[in-house]
Amino acid sequence: MTPLDANVQETVGGVVARLKDTPGALLPILHAIQDALGYVPPGAVPLIADGLNLSRAEVHGVISFYHYFRDTKPGRHVIHLCRAEACQSMNQKATEAHARQKLGVDFHGTTSNGAFTFEPVYCLGNCAASPAMMIDGELYGRVTPDRFDAIIADIDQRGKR
Ligand code: FES
Repeated sequence: MTPLDANVQETVGGVVARLKDTPGALLPILHAIQDALGYVPPGAVPLIADGLNLSRAEVHGVISFYHYFRDTKPGRHVIHLCRAEACQSMNQKATEAHARQKLGVDFHGTTSNGAFTFEPVYCLGNCAASPAMMIDGELYGRVTPDRFDAIIADIDQRGKR
């Protein structure tokens, strides 16, 4: 396991100290760490376990149970493509297949240039504008393959300005 760098250690320690006395603290702690760092580093597990008086295996078990939590650093932008029913009924499969091919990665993967991480999600509450997608917290609707390309190109350009 790679040791945590000082900044990451400080972030994780701060989150644990702030939330450890809240009821059911483990999930809020994991969410807060992922919000702050973009992922939950494996090196954070001992700090969380010690802070909550849990075993490392218990903490690790919860992290791996919820697909939402990542244990590797994501790309600069995180794409969440909805795979739930309403989106599927609006030809989401075509967008999904196109996105895999365009990005060159499967779900949970990060493009080789580190720009995008591709994640599935199950309903973004945007069913009326299916197929739906969220990138870095911004919601997009009616995401056809062409629209996917346009959105990605725009975000990529913004990153280069
Ligand atoms: S099913 Fe995709 S946004 Fe609800």
